[in-house]
Amino acid sequence: MGSVAYLEPVYSTDFARSNIIELKSLSKNFGELKVLENIDFAIRAGEIFAIIGTSGSGKSTFLNIISGLLEQDSGSFRISGKASGQFSGWKRIAYMFQEDRLLPWRTVRDNVAFGLENTSLGKQAKKARIDEVIDLVGLHEFADYWPHQISGGMRSRVALARSLVIEPEVLLMDEPFSKLDAQTRSQMHGELLRLHDLTGMTVVFVTHDVEEAAVLADRVAVFSSRPGRVKEIVDVNLDRPRLLTDAHLSEQIRTLRKKI
Ligand SMILES: Nc1ncnc2c1ncn2[C@@H]1O[C@H](COP(=O)(O)OP(=O)(O)OP(=O)(O)O)[C@@H](O)[C@H]1O
Ligand SMILES: [Mg+2]
Repeated sequence: MGSVAYLEPVYSTDFARSNIIELKSLSKNFGELKVLENIDFAIRAGEIFAIIGTSGSGKSTFLNIISGLLEQDSGSFRISGKASGQFSGWKRIAYMFQEDRLLPWRTVRDNVAFGLENTSLGKQAKKARIDEVIDLVGLHEFADYWPHQISGGMRSRVALARSLVIEPEVLLMDEPFSKLDAQTRSQMHGELLRLHDLTGMTVVFVTHDVEEAAVLADRVAVFSSRPGRVKEIVDVNLDRPRLLTDAHLSEQIRTLRKKI
């Protein structure tokens, strides 16, 4: 999909070549408050990676650091072989916040266009890309609607489209579907899996919902209470699609619940 060339990654030697995000002893304090301590793991290219943990364990702070919104106090991380601080011009990380943050004064199309605002793509290429991604999330008929005219699930799709329009290598999501009703949430799970299959992007998402983690993720990191540390990384070795009626999935969910 798409025409923008990916940067040639330069991987460090001490991690496998297939790791797209590498974290080394990452720590963050807010004043006296220790929020993240010695976060040390790697996320593989193309995997769906979930982070669970109690409220206040630093999950959002973690995503804020990876996305470049916040700076860590110590430690380092690399994405696609690039160290933090070398990201200028590297726009291949999309960040979907917990709230959809749609601009009420812009139509669906113009909200999606927002994701491309700071790129050097030509006008025609931008338009084609926006149309493509609006189609991709099934919003073709609603491109000219205003945010207040569409449902919660559709708003979620717009937020997803706005993230995908830059063709991210890495999609970060902070409890993206938590405000949706169970049925819409489950629809969005299917949608995300379909888009993941299609693009091969790496997805890193934070959730309170252990079921959501077990249904979607290849691996789940369990953060400990403050300061957030990685207690354990759990492999979810189940084929997709995963049905909640499946006994293996139920067992995985029970196991994860015990670890939080
Ligand atoms: N900008 C900030 N300034 C000061 N303290 C902050 C800031 N951002 C977060 N914190 C504190 O850091 C801790 C971790 O916050 P964070 O939002 O990362 O937790 P979380 O795991 O995402 O929680 P939740 O599950 O409730 O979303 C909290 O105690 C919070 O009060
Ligand atoms: Mg949070």
